[in-house]
Amino acid sequence: MQLKEEILINLIRDDQHLTIRTYHGEYRNLMLLLFDQIYYDDFGECKGMGRCGTCIVQITSSTAPLPPRDRNENTTLTKLDLADPSLRLSCQLLIDRSLHNSTITLLS
Ligand code: FES
Repeated sequence: MQLKEEILINLIRDDQHLTIRTYHGEYRNLMLLLFDQIYYDDFGECKGMGRCGTCIVQITSSTAPLPPRDRNENTTLTKLDLADPSLRLSCQLLIDRSLHNSTITLLS
């Protein structure tokens, strides 16, 4: 039996640090993981459509380059005047090895 490879995510919210453990495929995307593990009001309002902008996170480090913003993500972040490439819609990010040991700040 092959064990699934663990993915550790360092999370910062309101100056509190915590580590979340997950693995590839446990959640469909980063937003769903955050919604499940540390739900807070008004997070992920469009449920992953990439339109509401309520699931924005800042990723300040990752072990591998993150995939580029797709069209929906880019459109939403541009409307919000957020050009900083470290700002991402968590609903548009798959949980894979690129997020292992990443540092993610919740912006709420
Ligand atoms: S949940 Fe709405 S943009 Fe991510």
